[in-house]
Amino acid sequence: MSVFRGKRIGMEEDMKRFLDLISEEMKNAFEAAGYDRELGKVTLSNRPDLCEYQCNGAMAGAKLYKKAPIMIAQAVVDQCADSKVFSEVTAVMPGFLNLKLREEFAADYLNQMVQEPKFGLVMPSKPCKIIVDYGGANVAKALHVGHLRPAIIGESIKRIARYAGHEVIGDIHMGDWGLQIGLVITELKERHPELVYFDESYEGEYPSEAPFTISDLGEIYPVASSKSKEDAAYKERAMEATFKLQSGVRGHRALWRHIMNVSVPNLKQNYDNLNVEFDLWKGESDVQDLIPGMVDYMKKEGYAYISEGALVVDVKEETDTKEVPPCMILKSDGASLYNTTDLATIMERTEKYHPDRMIYVTDKRQELYFEQVFRCARKTKLIDPETELLHIGFGTMNGKDGKPFKTRDGGVMSLELLVGEINDEMYRKISESRKEMDKEAEETAKIVALSAIKYGDLSNQASKDYIFDIDKFTSFEGDTGPYILYTIVRIKSILNKVKEQGGIPENPVIRGAGSEAEKALMLQIAGFNAMMETAYSETAPHKVCAYIYDLANAFNRFYHETKIVTEEDQEKKAGWIALLMLVRDILETCIDVLGFTAPERM
Ligand code: ARG
Repeated sequence: MSVFRGKRIGMEEDMKRFLDLISEEMKNAFEAAGYDRELGKVTLSNRPDLCEYQCNGAMAGAKLYKKAPIMIAQAVVDQCADSKVFSEVTAVMPGFLNLKLREEFAADYLNQMVQEPKFGLVMPSKPCKIIVDYGGANVAKALHVGHLRPAIIGESIKRIARYAGHEVIGDIHMGDWGLQIGLVITELKERHPELVYFDESYEGEYPSEAPFTISDLGEIYPVASSKSKEDAAYKERAMEATFKLQSGVRGHRALWRHIMNVSVPNLKQNYDNLNVEFDLWKGESDVQDLIPGMVDYMKKEGYAYISEGALVVDVKEETDTKEVPPCMILKSDGASLYNTTDLATIMERTEKYHPDRMIYVTDKRQELYFEQVFRCARKTKLIDPETELLHIGFGTMNGKDGKPFKTRDGGVMSLELLVGEINDEMYRKISESRKEMDKEAEETAKIVALSAIKYGDLSNQASKDYIFDIDKFTSFEGDTGPYILYTIVRIKSILNKVKEQGGIPENPVIRGAGSEAEKALMLQIAGFNAMMETAYSETAPHKVCAYIYDLANAFNRFYHETKIVTEEDQEKKAGWIALLMLVRDILETCIDVLGFTAPERM
């Protein structure tokens, strides 16, 4: 049995986390010295100039044992003389333990990581079923910059959970039913009242071809939307059109189907360009038939009651410190709302999948809204009591002026335009370093541009606002996507050179570090599985970004002081090759869960 493994009951042996193994050794030392082993918890050093890891257990033990902390620390040091883990354990005043690891210990751990699936990340004994609801595109409207964050963050949350061994379903949950459709229909009628769809006595078949294209739609919706804000009668007509659609008027349904048929392939294309893919293309419209039954149930069980004409469910709780208004199920005219479809969707997902978790990724301004919906779903028992509901609310993407990102003339920027701008900027940067630009260079520019956009977003904690800074995001230096890709490409190119030189040895073995920089790189690698566990349990893609930024820095520092390709000592060289391959594989795994890829060269 390898020293890196521990037993879990009823399970195969799992690889332990690096820091846990180190703590284990320290705990043994505390115990052997006659102290509580729990004092031996080890953390990363906050003085990396002095040591790699530290333990403050002697400080905590001082109170417990009524002894000077330095006495305890010294006794622990004495127990570590023959340690296979620590090369140096030093007690420093007033009682800290500074730790350095044995080179071979770290190397052995890394070699073990190479052997294990997923570098030794522990898989759950029973995978959770998780639904991630993200994207939230509205049909008939062009995707704009506001759709970027839910797509990027949701995609990464989904991929991280999948990598962590869970069964994950991504659902786009389109806005495909409400007033926006009514608005488009109203504007169409305004322009083409002669269309057969508006003849309510018509009983024949409707044309299979839509009476508009995707670019028509992109133009119609904003016009209709601004008209409805200025003209109350127009808005009234749009609401009526929405009502007719919802109550099944044939011509309106036929137009809605056309809108879907024109819109959805366009959405797919847009998400495809972002490397974002959904397992389910469900929307608000899909649960319409479930609403009447759900409403009856809520009334019959006494959860819902009429208040000022509307049907509502109270969701406030005694412990509330803020006002939580009732959840409205039906408006006084009987129309359903955004809430209603979300509740019906929860009911449908529960019946179909019995998920352990549902994660919603939307703008954080919907926080109170989801609080109401979640409470209502629980109170009315639409959901299994064990199912966890989680809202990940993200902050605003701002321009350099600190205000929500806009086009130069202050309009809402379409996603296509934004992605196009970054692609152009990346193409320009890449062409600076290349003699000839060809198709491959163009593809590379796109790959790197996507890393710039996604990393720029994901490296911030989702809940925070951030500034979308094209110059910064597309830079090859600093905490950026292109820097990470540059590092991966650099490793690939070294490995290619070695290959050309005569080949990569079979199953090379990582050896004990020969320099500070090499050791720092190895310790950074060893933290992979603990990092991934946290990124999953905290639904926090920014932890993956922070990790790979440190890893890339550690690698580049090592690279700058090590001549790998020309190294004469073949064993040493083989060790470095093994190390490089591991760094490359980990970086590529990490960018994959972030939702982008690396090119072969840059
Ligand atoms: N379409 C919605 C919007 O534009 C987002 C949908 C989010 N998901 C949900 N289940 N409500 O705000």
